[in-house]
Amino acid sequence: MKVSYKKILFPGINGLVHGGDYNPDQWLDRPDILEKDLELMKKAGINCVTLGIFSWSAYEPAEGEFHFEWLQNIMDRLYENGIHTILATPSGARPAWLDAAYPDAMRADEYGRRNHHGNRHNHCMSSENYRRLVRKIDSQLAQRFGKHPGLILWHISNEFGGYCYCDACRQRFQKYLAEQFDGDIGKLNKAWWTSFWSHTYNSFDQIEPPYADGEQSVLGLRLEWKRFTTWNTTDFMKAEIDALREFCPDVPVTTNFMTMYEELDYHAMAKPLDVISWDSYPMFHNDRETLEDTFLENAFNHALFRSIKPGQPFMMMESAPGLVNWRPFNKYKRPGVHRLACLQAVACGSDTVQYFQIRKSRGSVEQFHGAVIDHLGTDDTRVFREVAETGRSLERLAEVAGSIADNRTAILFDWDNRWAVRDVNALGQETKKYEETCISLWKEFVKMGAEPDIISSDADWSSYRVIAAPMLFMLHDGVGEKIRSFVEGGGQFLATYFTGCVDRNLLAYLGGFPGQDLHELFGLICEETDTLYPSDRNIIRWLTLGDSPREGKAEGLFPLQSEVRDYQELLRVSDAEILAVYEKDYVAGMPAVTRKRYGQGTAWYVGCRIGSGEMRGLLAEMLKNAGIPARRLPEGVEFHSRRSESCYYDFYLNTGSEPAQVEDVYGTDLLTGEEFRGEAVIPGFQALVLKRG
Ligand code: GLA
Ligand code: ZN
Repeated sequence: MKVSYKKILFPGINGLVHGGDYNPDQWLDRPDILEKDLELMKKAGINCVTLGIFSWSAYEPAEGEFHFEWLQNIMDRLYENGIHTILATPSGARPAWLDAAYPDAMRADEYGRRNHHGNRHNHCMSSENYRRLVRKIDSQLAQRFGKHPGLILWHISNEFGGYCYCDACRQRFQKYLAEQFDGDIGKLNKAWWTSFWSHTYNSFDQIEPPYADGEQSVLGLRLEWKRFTTWNTTDFMKAEIDALREFCPDVPVTTNFMTMYEELDYHAMAKPLDVISWDSYPMFHNDRETLEDTFLENAFNHALFRSIKPGQPFMMMESAPGLVNWRPFNKYKRPGVHRLACLQAVACGSDTVQYFQIRKSRGSVEQFHGAVIDHLGTDDTRVFREVAETGRSLERLAEVAGSIADNRTAILFDWDNRWAVRDVNALGQETKKYEETCISLWKEFVKMGAEPDIISSDADWSSYRVIAAPMLFMLHDGVGEKIRSFVEGGGQFLATYFTGCVDRNLLAYLGGFPGQDLHELFGLICEETDTLYPSDRNIIRWLTLGDSPREGKAEGLFPLQSEVRDYQELLRVSDAEILAVYEKDYVAGMPAVTRKRYGQGTAWYVGCRIGSGEMRGLLAEMLKNAGIPARRLPEGVEFHSRRSESCYYDFYLNTGSEPAQVEDVYGTDLLTGEEFRGEAVIPGFQALVLKRG
């Protein structure tokens, strides 16, 4: 298969998108302000805005009474001024008339109680009335604006999320389950192990959602409820997409995802979308981590969303130009940080830098949320100047648009597994930290200049040489075989404690963990996973890293000993090289870390929790085996790379406030035109974007 390294998302826009959410419907009685906005947008280098996200009552102030003239005027004016439109469907918030007439559109809480009218994102995805009204307004929008020359993308609803426990959802859930289990209640009982505590069901209509005061002990039920909510939300979203496509088949669609959002499986939800977009709100300058870590965590999210649809750019649909207003502490980004965060998005594969919001509202809950244009209404604020400077930088990076990430390393991250790890009664409730474990391993690879994608166990793994799958507790069907052939074909695969314990229904594997015969691949059986108290410590002693036992150490990467926290496993090693053993406690002398060569590749197993920095030597060895060059980057410097058909774009971001010296950098900086051959000094909060042939 020929891989293409160029995928232009928006042919109408020459370069990267710079824009954001814009709510002119809040200012229709102030044409002077709308005119001023146009002028300021142009000054800030904004070439696209997102309209109509929460405009339902402006479009349809009473049922069946439509007003689209204002939108027509604004889209026209924007387009005349070189500004494109992303048009949203307004289903993210409902007008009062709708809830008054159709109370079933309102969501029910985890006790099954119907909510009152208000807020947003609180609709029942099963409500026939709601679906009918959404279809109607979406069709109207598609008919009227689907051919507007300024329209580049549909933005479906807004930040889908949450559960509804109403009767309609209960019935839909039962139907969904009947389909999943071939209408055979016996099959469901077996899969959910309902003989435990006499929870056997006679028929699907006895099954309820996991109400807060209802069935909480059947883990299979809780898991299927989450899968159902993803399915139902996706089905709702698909109905919106269908309504648009009927009149407007060619304009692509997206919906905006949220940071590490837990309640929806984005891998499943992404299928009907053309482009992935997400809303990035890192907690800059907080008091619990370094700025470098905040940046890296944000980059992990970029990587997660980028990897959902490989081979094409993604979108940073929202970010705050200044501050947000919904956190316990709402701190401004320090000078320079805004632009750097925007460059980070592009570095990680985004073709857009978009904000919430273009102009600040005067009232209601977001009136003090950062915006490009604030209440002062001028272009001489610090935030405006930084946005405008960002706009100029993005113009210089126009040719980067359409280039893609092309990585050989990956971290496995599954929503199902996330849910399963969270729900299982095992380990330490506070120290499970599945997400943190994935993030910290990802960061470690990034620090070695080998940025991983974040992929699901069901993804296509064929472009990767190194895959790390921390805490892969649940194995989807066939994943054991997939791992085996990955390793056999030369892959380096890393598993950790708490791997391969249950199948997709949460039934434990019999005959030894990791299941699906992976214990043979790793050459060990995990007999028990011991949970330590947060203050407990053990030590492992590293013995060797095979052919090059001291090479890592010489570079200070490979320690002699590492500290163990939270988890230590009792491993029964039958057929693997032992790389480290426990020093203390009843496990002293027993294997803790192993490796087994299999086919052309290697299966690595880390049976205890050690700091990701302590694993650097091991990760370096994996990279070396895979022929991926590892490099040393100074603290605080992030490296990301994109490629097109003919060249690479190497991004070096200095996330520290002090200058940083980097080595082995080559190419022409698109931001300044300067040439680099070898060394460079990057000032604090600045970046290099080197085009390399
Ligand atoms: C979310 C929403 C926006 C806005 C911002 C504020 O991302 O999608 O409508 O509320 O948060 O940060
Ligand atoms: Zn419902």
